[in-house]
Amino acid sequence: MPTKEELIQILRSVIDPELGIDIVSLGMVKDVSVENGTIRVTLELTTPACPFRSQLKENVEKVLKTAPGVSEVKVDVVARVASSRVSYNVLPGVKNIIAIASGKGGVGKSTVAVNIGLALSEFGASVGILDADIYGPTIPKILNVKIGPTNAGNKIAPAISYNGMKVMSIGFLLQEDEPVIWRGPLVANAIKQFLTEVEWGELDYLIVDLPPGTGDASLTLAQSIPLTGVVIVSTPQDAALRIAMKALNMFRKLNVEIIGIVENMSYFVCPNCGHVSEIFGRGSVKAACERLGIRFLGEVPISPDIRINGDLGKPVVIAAPKSESAEAFRRIAYAIAGSVSVIAYKKKMGGTGNVA
Ligand SMILES: Nc1ncnc2c1ncn2[C@@H]1O[C@H](COP(=O)(O)OP(=O)(O)O)[C@@H](O)[C@H]1O
Ligand SMILES: [Mg+2]
Repeated sequence: MPTKEELIQILRSVIDPELGIDIVSLGMVKDVSVENGTIRVTLELTTPACPFRSQLKENVEKVLKTAPGVSEVKVDVVARVASSRVSYNVLPGVKNIIAIASGKGGVGKSTVAVNIGLALSEFGASVGILDADIYGPTIPKILNVKIGPTNAGNKIAPAISYNGMKVMSIGFLLQEDEPVIWRGPLVANAIKQFLTEVEWGELDYLIVDLPPGTGDASLTLAQSIPLTGVVIVSTPQDAALRIAMKALNMFRKLNVEIIGIVENMSYFVCPNCGHVSEIFGRGSVKAACERLGIRFLGEVPISPDIRINGDLGKPVVIAAPKSESAEAFRRIAYAIAGSVSVIAYKKKMGGTGNVA
């Protein structure tokens, strides 16, 4: 029978596809035991939304089975989300803070934020979503949630949505149809309160829906939240993409990691004949990502079920979990979780965390 040390040596041949580093060096191999020809191993992933879960499990089984005298291999897969945060003064229980931004409004930023959050929580992560879009806080409507009353002196309890996702929105504090004419310092103060006076508790991922554009408010916000990185949402049209690039450059100047770009409203599948129309010119976001050396996170079709379910307060990942749209959001959630794990690893190793 091989010894525990020998088995660990064998496991060094299994490489994490996202990082290109072996699973032992990454600390993913937790318990190894050998008894009467049976090997037990616990494999700890850095996110439950790991697209390589079954591939890694199979590879571990395969290499261990080649060891002499081994009759059975039992692999237990668990997940513990890695933290990308270095300083924990603000939000000590939150491991990763992901901003969702866009150049233009109306490109589907909030729709992407919500469905990604729900996909991550469906995989088993604890997720919060902060709607910081002071110009159009739509998340209470998309999720059909309200907050309850808060007793004086207590922290504000966030609303709880599908899959236990916690929700806080600037919209909870405004009357409907009330215009917001806030300047930077006021916005920064409101955001500080959202970070410090809301009972977020322990979260693997806090998703922040930022206002569109590169104005005063977006700038102040991006600077007041200790971000892991930003996901940019754009439609494939030239005009949208050009403004998205401006937002991207603003984040780069602020030294915020660019996690990647999502192409929303990529194409339309005719529900009658299945014909695919690339209405806004599918693929231009991917091409831009390749040019810039930024990760392309995936595409989302234009689909009535995304719009209708969003309007009904039940996002498509929940309302039509098997639909192509829901699957598209899940793939993007995988990509984001993977990139965040890479950033966390690089932070731990003292690097810049740059994924590109
Ligand atoms: N892929 C899509 N297919 C169909 N409708 C969409 C899609 N993405 C967003 N929408 C709809 O477009 C409108 C704007 O989306 P929203 O997420 O509010 O944009 P933003 O937050 O960028 O302003 C909403 O009515 C939403 O339901
Ligand atoms: Mg929005």
